[in-house]
Amino acid sequence: MDKAQILVASNRGPVSFSLSEDGSLDYRRGGGGLVSGLSSVGSSADTLWVCAALSDADRAAAARAPEARLDLAGFDLGGMRVRMLDIPPDTFADAYTRVANSTLWFVHHMLYDTPNKPRFDAAFRSEWEGFRSYNAAFAEALLTGSADNARVAVQDYHLALVPRMLRQRRPDLCIAHFSHTPWAPPEYFRMLPEEIRRELLEGMLGADHLGFLSRRWADAFLRCCETFLRLDVDWQQRTVEFGGRLVRLGVHALGADAESLRERAAADDVEQWRTQLRERVGDAKLLVRVDRTELSKNIVRGLEAFRELLREHPEWHGRVTHLAFAYPSRGDVPEYREYTEQVQRVAKEINQEFATSDWAPLILEVQDDFARSLAAYRMADVLLINPIRDGMNLVAKEVPVLSDDGCALVLSSEAGAADELGDDALVVNPYDVSETARALRTALEMPEDERRARCERLVENATALPPKRWFEEQLQALK
Ligand code: F6P
Repeated sequence: MDKAQILVASNRGPVSFSLSEDGSLDYRRGGGGLVSGLSSVGSSADTLWVCAALSDADRAAAARAPEARLDLAGFDLGGMRVRMLDIPPDTFADAYTRVANSTLWFVHHMLYDTPNKPRFDAAFRSEWEGFRSYNAAFAEALLTGSADNARVAVQDYHLALVPRMLRQRRPDLCIAHFSHTPWAPPEYFRMLPEEIRRELLEGMLGADHLGFLSRRWADAFLRCCETFLRLDVDWQQRTVEFGGRLVRLGVHALGADAESLRERAAADDVEQWRTQLRERVGDAKLLVRVDRTELSKNIVRGLEAFRELLREHPEWHGRVTHLAFAYPSRGDVPEYREYTEQVQRVAKEINQEFATSDWAPLILEVQDDFARSLAAYRMADVLLINPIRDGMNLVAKEVPVLSDDGCALVLSSEAGAADELGDDALVVNPYDVSETARALRTALEMPEDERRARCERLVENATALPPKRWFEEQLQALK
């Protein structure tokens, strides 16, 4: 295989495979904001995407064709090479489930219930070894796959150690790292053990360019560099000096991909869902949310806000239905399983309290169905996005783009998307259930003209930096 000039590395790859009964392999697009962003980066035989094999089918695919050339109509991946790494299961569990998702994700989203967790003991230190090996496996694949002076775009907290591993062995490479999550402020980041904080920060500082989705997250990273590594930060230029080099930080606010979304949302399966959902809810107004079943998405407080609205404003009974579509996520992490159960419990309580023979106040589906979600995007009168903390939240940008009739947006101040959408959304404190309930009512009662006008401006801001340009900006920054 030729060496690549441009390399992307991420835990979750652009596609996931499934094995059919006759043994043939099928593939479809992977999930999550990172893949949505990167799936349209363009395709070229010069580009190699290195990711982890996440299932037995992925592993089977990796064994059959180590560097498959994918031709996925609609996802613009034609010609790009993808290499799936078959990481030993124990190492993968330590790295992905325990360190990345149960620790780093919790730190950056400030999710810990501190009387019990975290606890950094001998078991954690051994999991950390797994995290190192996993990062080393990615670094190795990138080193062997890259041409001289190639540009490497490493993605996310899973791969925080990779930039330094690459730089130590190949100073010719131009290395970027992009964080799709928030970054914890030093006051929270300090809960990590001293040596782990250092390894993470120095690992990322191996890059030439560090990208973030919001100025807030970039500034938090720089504050961590000042506080824990005592490095010199130039706040004007957003650079930090490390190992005799200047590392630059950039803020690249990923936007929605309007063109491909509109094309996908016009398909027959989405139309069918739209008809089906409309039959089910009649002419009730639709309050929509679509998330992974993810602690940081704050689904329970969102449901509680809806309950408070119904309790305090009986005039809305029978006139609004809440569609809550939750994609199953990270079932290997106990907190996620418990949270999903809690979401289901609260949803049941709401229906028990308010449902009548001809009105279902809340329809909760814990299932992955992209076409059905797109139908809900189109039909939403009000969209609720209330994360406790979120790197960006692309759904907040995608729904206005697809909205048939202009939707109102209730948006958490703690989502990166609030930087671009805050002026035209109803911005709420995600912990304040009553404020969220009031905003839901304001959104439901917003005059049509105002709702449409706000939605038009939302679309403009949501599409200001489409994925292709977002990625080009990062490559440009490496020149
Ligand atoms: O957007 C942040 C992110 O962690 C991505 O890296 C990831 O692909 C997505 O959320 C979904 O999470 P996961 O890959 O663990 O399902």
